[in-house]
Amino acid sequence: MNNLNFLFSIPTLIVFGCNSIEELGKRVKEIGGSKAILVTDKGIVNSGILEEIKTILSKDDIEFVIFDEVEPNPFDTTIERGTNVAIKESCDVVIGIGGGSSMDSAKAIAMRVTNRDGSLLDYVGINKVKNIPLPIIAVPTTSGTASELTIFSVLTNSRDMTKISIGSDLLTPKIAICDPILTVSMPPNVTATTGMDALTHAVESYVTTVSTPVTKALALESIRLISINLRRAVSRGEDLQARSNMLLASLLAGMAFRHTRLGIAHALAMPLGSWDIRLPHGLANALVLPYVMEFNLPGNLEGYAEIAIAMGESPGSTIRETALKSVKAVKELIKDIGLPRNLKSVGVKKEDFDRIAEEAMKSGNLAVNPRVCRKEDLISILEASYEGE
Ligand SMILES: [Fe+2]
Repeated sequence: MNNLNFLFSIPTLIVFGCNSIEELGKRVKEIGGSKAILVTDKGIVNSGILEEIKTILSKDDIEFVIFDEVEPNPFDTTIERGTNVAIKESCDVVIGIGGGSSMDSAKAIAMRVTNRDGSLLDYVGINKVKNIPLPIIAVPTTSGTASELTIFSVLTNSRDMTKISIGSDLLTPKIAICDPILTVSMPPNVTATTGMDALTHAVESYVTTVSTPVTKALALESIRLISINLRRAVSRGEDLQARSNMLLASLLAGMAFRHTRLGIAHALAMPLGSWDIRLPHGLANALVLPYVMEFNLPGNLEGYAEIAIAMGESPGSTIRETALKSVKAVKELIKDIGLPRNLKSVGVKKEDFDRIAEEAMKSGNLAVNPRVCRKEDLISILEASYEGE
């Protein structure tokens, strides 16, 4: 399923490497910034990373204010508070430091400062942003969301507790500073869940109906790197080679899915992160991914067979047999990194399946999924995930 007519562009300047964070001040100046708002969370403050960044910025005479109120699955109300700080302090650049929640909050704050009409919720959807946001610099400290180069900001609507997404090319960060050293303090569980988010990006992107030779090359290399390095990064956090490869893998998957969108796992992960369920995004993906792959298999046997080989499996006697090995490889990886293996064990209730499926059917990702799916199919996938081994 190769689309040989394609466009490919990454507007983000990627600065990748150990100690690349030292360049932050220089990069702020390069984009004309004079006062930054640092958008982050308490975990980054407690880890000492924020202190290090403050020192770097001070050394380069960059003024800054700190907004460290980002919570997991951040609320629209948090964005409004951060926006008020940025406006009051006349900030002209937004730096998001942390995982997906901090980077997505930074993007939404940058957008909201220059888009003041209506409420934040009026910008939910694709291409609703009118005015150019403040320039955004993203500094990931996890290896999974790839928010550092995507067009999306995923938030939670505080009124009905559903996950919402603002998507616009204008939200793409200008610069991503990807320093693997900043990911070393990530605890094993966060390493595992964010790593599974990256793997889900790569797998879903690889098999979409709109993948291209470029996105497939990026996604397949990402899958290969994750298969080798995620276990190591979870088992021994200070393994800098594994950390570097995981950050790279996350980035490659992001470059791929920026162009292809994703699939059923991400459609389901939105409601699985909503209401009172509120599963971490990467865990939600990990719980459903093997069963999504089983369902999708007939839609792209060749693609799943290639994924199996990239994950180190040997070819079977038929293409179907090889493709099935990709499901086995993903299940083994989830087991090895110690994540829960079924929806039952994390407290998701069967009574919720109908509304989860209903909400997931609204996802734009379903349009590019390799197999057409109906609401009943999503419920069957949830049922298989509920009992998963
Ligand atoms: Fe994701």
